[in-house]
Amino acid sequence: MKKIPLIIDCDPGVDDVLAIVMAKHVDKFDIKAVTSVSGNVGINLTTRNAQLITGLLDLDCVVARGAEEPLVKPKREAGHVHGADGIGGTFELFPKNCKKELSKFSALNVLRDTLMNSEERVSIVAIGPLTNIGLLLKIYPEVKEKIEVISIMGGAINNGNATPCSEYNFLVDPEAASIVFKSGVPLIMAGINLTVKVTLTKENLEEIQNIGSNLSEIGHKMIVDYTTDDPAIHDPCAVLALSHPDMFKWEDLHVQIDTREGFTQGMSYADYRLRIPKKPNCKVLTDIDLEKFRKLTVDSFK
Ligand code: BDR
Ligand code: CA
Repeated sequence: MKKIPLIIDCDPGVDDVLAIVMAKHVDKFDIKAVTSVSGNVGINLTTRNAQLITGLLDLDCVVARGAEEPLVKPKREAGHVHGADGIGGTFELFPKNCKKELSKFSALNVLRDTLMNSEERVSIVAIGPLTNIGLLLKIYPEVKEKIEVISIMGGAINNGNATPCSEYNFLVDPEAASIVFKSGVPLIMAGINLTVKVTLTKENLEEIQNIGSNLSEIGHKMIVDYTTDDPAIHDPCAVLALSHPDMFKWEDLHVQIDTREGFTQGMSYADYRLRIPKKPNCKVLTDIDLEKFRKLTVDSFK
């Protein structure tokens, strides 16, 4: 079967790790690169965590270090959700020396070169703040025609998690999110309005634990640690939107990002006007086959 060429831009992050595990498990992707960005924890840790999980899974891809801070705002981290190590305290469970080698090139260059050197269009799963992707689209606009779609975990319609109005990834770098949504590149948005429904059960966690492998031990510990603060498993949704589109319902909408300082900064809002709606720029995911999600999550640790 022909595989979907893919780049994963991420800030691992417990649910980012789950997304990478899922991307390997579904066996529908040719993962060409994993690029890190500062977000859930600082860039040194998100990069190291990307190297750890790609190494543990033995992925044949480039790993590159991305932006250390958002385009305009000062950086902000979420170690209280993802653990001080960003992976729910599981660092010691990874085999020594499993880290995949880091590219000598920056994420920005790896993103550009992977896209420009590909004969076919490449999809991007973007599950951290959109800093690297915003920079890429601004500095190298020629890449746009090489991108099949950007499947984003971020934003929310009429909802939020970091604030009542705003989702974490968009709040961290609203300017980057705004660049991406104005870019004209096809977008899919797995926002909080969807991911708040995406949870695992106690039984799912037991099933993962009972698999009894190193990977399942890491997965179980990190999910238990993470879900004590946030029950929603956000980032794998952006992967599954590409591999299993039939699992989702969506609406085509025009989405904009509020970059202004203040209470609504980072808010993503959709144009629902009946009379003069703007042309849709995004497929906004609205529902998921939760049973299928749970089964795929458990199976991805087998
Ligand atoms: C998003 O923010 C991070 O905490 C998660 O990894 C996810 O990408 C959810 O708002
Ligand atoms: Ca993330």
